[in-house]
Amino acid sequence: MSEQSFTDEEGVPDTVAIESKLPLNAIDIESQKDMESGRYHSLRSLHKWFAARPTPAVRLAVLASVYPGEIDSDELLRLMKIGPKELDSGLAEFVENKFTEEKGSGTLDDHYGYPNPNTQSPTKAEIEKLQGTLREAWGGELPTILDPTAGRGIIPFEAIRYGLPAKANELNPVPSLILKAGLEYAPKVGSLDPDIREWRDKIHETAKENIEPYYPTEEPDRQILNSALTYIIQCDSCGGEIPLVSKWWLNKDSDGGDVTVPVYEDGAVRYTYSRAESSPDGFDPDEGPLRGESAECPYCGVINQQESVQQKIKSQDFEFSIYGVNYETATGERKYRAGNELDEQGMAKAAERVESDFDLLTFLSEPVDVSSRISDPSSYGMEEWRDIFTPRQLVVQYEFYKSFEQFKPEIRSEYDDETANALLTVLTLSASRSMNYNTRLNQWRDLFGYGSHLFTDNNLILKKMSVDNNLSAPRRGYRKHSDHVIDSYETLVSYVTDMEPADVLSSDAADLTSHWEPGSVDAAIVDPPYYSSIMYAELSDVFYVIQKEYLEDVHPEIYGSNLTDKDNEAVANPYRFEEIADDEQSKDDLADQHYESKMEEIFAEVQELLSPGGVMTVMFTHREMDAWDTLTSALISAGFTITATHPIKTEMSDRIGVQGKASADSSIFLVARKEEAQSPSRTLWEEVQDDIRQAARDQAEEILDSGYNISKTDTAIAAYGPTLQKYAEEYPVVNKKGEEIRPREALSQAREAVTGVLAERFLKTDGIEQIDSLSRWYILSWLIYENDTIPYDEARQLGVAANVDIDNIKRSTKIWGKSGKDIQLKDHTDRVQDIVMLKSDSADNPSSRKYPVNPTDTRFTYNIDAVHSAIHVYEREGARAAWQWLSDRNLKSNREFEVTVTALLEVLPAESDMRETLVNLVSGETGDYLDINLSHIDMTKEGQTELSDHQ
Ligand SMILES: C[S@@+](CC[C@H](N)C(=O)[O-])C[C@H]1O[C@@H](n2cnc3c(N)ncnc32)[C@H](O)[C@@H]1O
Repeated sequence: MSEQSFTDEEGVPDTVAIESKLPLNAIDIESQKDMESGRYHSLRSLHKWFAARPTPAVRLAVLASVYPGEIDSDELLRLMKIGPKELDSGLAEFVENKFTEEKGSGTLDDHYGYPNPNTQSPTKAEIEKLQGTLREAWGGELPTILDPTAGRGIIPFEAIRYGLPAKANELNPVPSLILKAGLEYAPKVGSLDPDIREWRDKIHETAKENIEPYYPTEEPDRQILNSALTYIIQCDSCGGEIPLVSKWWLNKDSDGGDVTVPVYEDGAVRYTYSRAESSPDGFDPDEGPLRGESAECPYCGVINQQESVQQKIKSQDFEFSIYGVNYETATGERKYRAGNELDEQGMAKAAERVESDFDLLTFLSEPVDVSSRISDPSSYGMEEWRDIFTPRQLVVQYEFYKSFEQFKPEIRSEYDDETANALLTVLTLSASRSMNYNTRLNQWRDLFGYGSHLFTDNNLILKKMSVDNNLSAPRRGYRKHSDHVIDSYETLVSYVTDMEPADVLSSDAADLTSHWEPGSVDAAIVDPPYYSSIMYAELSDVFYVIQKEYLEDVHPEIYGSNLTDKDNEAVANPYRFEEIADDEQSKDDLADQHYESKMEEIFAEVQELLSPGGVMTVMFTHREMDAWDTLTSALISAGFTITATHPIKTEMSDRIGVQGKASADSSIFLVARKEEAQSPSRTLWEEVQDDIRQAARDQAEEILDSGYNISKTDTAIAAYGPTLQKYAEEYPVVNKKGEEIRPREALSQAREAVTGVLAERFLKTDGIEQIDSLSRWYILSWLIYENDTIPYDEARQLGVAANVDIDNIKRSTKIWGKSGKDIQLKDHTDRVQDIVMLKSDSADNPSSRKYPVNPTDTRFTYNIDAVHSAIHVYEREGARAAWQWLSDRNLKSNREFEVTVTALLEVLPAESDMRETLVNLVSGETGDYLDINLSHIDMTKEGQTELSDHQ
């Protein structure tokens, strides 16, 4: 949104399009469509990787970082394949209008009238025209794009798809393999069809034959697809068998569903099948013995505590148990039955094989190296990666691997090296993708009647109701997964036929100049790891160990190490520093320092690789201010200055938007150029502080005026862009003592300024600044988040803006409580002592530690305490008593009380009980008494102030 001309360097555009105004609204809508449609970029469907960016946002970053000067909105959108072909102009308005129109029953593509842009490539003529413009601007050559932390490579792939030379680097071997397939083999080797499917069939047939004995069945015409798998432990008290199942559902459908009904006899359990609608009286499928993490014994009723249950799993003191089976009939119907003895025999046979087959003993025996506590499989006794499989799953993995190895020499002898390697790579991705659906870490999903994939929550937690997926079966088995992978590969081929492959490297991005020439890159698009959000390397070992078995001889440069590289990974993982942390430096500080220095090294490498005047666009998404602080420090220390910033939506949020739908989170694109020489002059913080606040205010106001679709919370994050830009311009910034001011200080100022703008815009009640800080914070929290649950870091920052340290007041006021990583705002029911009990001599006095607000007080420390007490008295004792209570405290003419009441009426959600009582309090006889001016408030249920969030 902010602009700055930058360089007069020869052969480098003075400004590029990303440094000027862009049709952000339309691109946001398109990015959101891309995420919602479920029709992802084919690089995504090739294999699991983390943190994909939507194609429209990626295309914008690639094209606008090299396109000279300003770009006409229609031209840009057309080039990005956004909008219907037949429309010549007004594409942005068209997209925005379609967004607000009621959607019919068809697909998103039907509604918008054009296909998802990620499925569309530019035409030859468009590429030629683009290349002409770029050559002219970049000194006769096409600009080269670099992605130093490429992940699976959507950024460099889109670059080559538009005919631009690209370099892609990635540290982690798992996405490196995707890069090889999609960015090297797809353009270079091209289609592998139909040969690859023939090899796939051979591998499948051989493995299937060897797997069959482990899936015995009474009815040979039935094919076992998935089995619901649990653990049986012995009760601490009576020794009876307890299956660790919390819900007995196998599948849910519109009539009810399929359930397993356990029969507990003489300390042993067996399973029977029933439709839920006709299950026996007294049976509730929602009530299994597992209650949270503990288990109730079905024989003696004793609760086996969490520690005991976990210890049994950890020490392998359990038996695997199949409690339900999903099968396919000869006519192709999917049905369910209960687990039976034959299933147990199949599992036992596999266990015997694992014990006795020498070759299997070392298969996948690499140690689990995961330090994040909640996610660590070793806390469930899984010390080696092979332990994440049941014996049967392990045998299945092994048989597929053996079969692949059997055909490898034939593949090698029939094709040239590159084609053979491409075939082996895509076949390995197929096997690795199949494994993603067949481990003890996959959850049984009763809503669908089969198992989830491994990383529904980006962690490695053991699932007590998991899935055994028969990979030799047609549905959800190896054939299905390999078809998916092969189809994705072939689609990628169709996008980049005749294009130059990318230059792919698998290395630490802090070491790029050992591989590539300085000055060999014109634009770097960086999508760095998200600070502490995803521990890529820890999570990906699970794929690495299996891929290494398959491909160590094919790609020795990728599979050289025992496990993935965690030391060089640019993430902030406190657990890795637990052992060296001390009183001086906490593990969080050390993790933060590691991330910052790693990112600084990466940016410094990019800086060296960039040609003079080259552009770097960084995409960054994070809600925590610390993450922004660290990233910006790294960027500036590496010698960049920020030339423009844009807020853009690139992530599906896990938060729920106002209207109950998931909304997209904002990222910021920070555009940076090489600072030729860093300014030696230091800027005094006091001199720049006002400008920084103003930059944030201006950005917030510009966003609000433009109708840009963004939530109130994301407005604050969007304002980080210009704030950081201003900070970088003035860098180094110091206080009067000469101490350096970190970006964090500037961001705090920005947040405070934006909170002020939001309060001015959306709060009609005057005088909010007159009430105490705590009450103001409470009101602003409701105003901005429209919800009682708020991410802790944001609530804390909002506290800074309102001048209250929320940690300090937590215990004494009980105004918020912790809820995971969030805080929860409390209401009167959690804070106010019971007035009836207080008045009664015989009753025990309510605990003032638990409920800090005493409604019999005549004066209150905080305005919110008075209002919460008034609401409590009204609800507990009725309108008359409330009238008396208010008049005893002379609240009629209390301006602060009035401001707090009216502001709360404005910000509380329509459905909140607190608001309902407040409405009563300002109506009827208490209302007559208080005589509050409510003319600026819409008192109807719907009359809530809302920013036009477009979620
Ligand atoms: C946000 S993701 C990139 C996602 C990518 N844009 C995509 O669409 O798949 C960041 C990537 O940085 C990689 N990474 C972390 N540290 C690295 C390092 N030192 N060198 C190179 N890559 C690194 C991670 O493995 C991860 O794949």
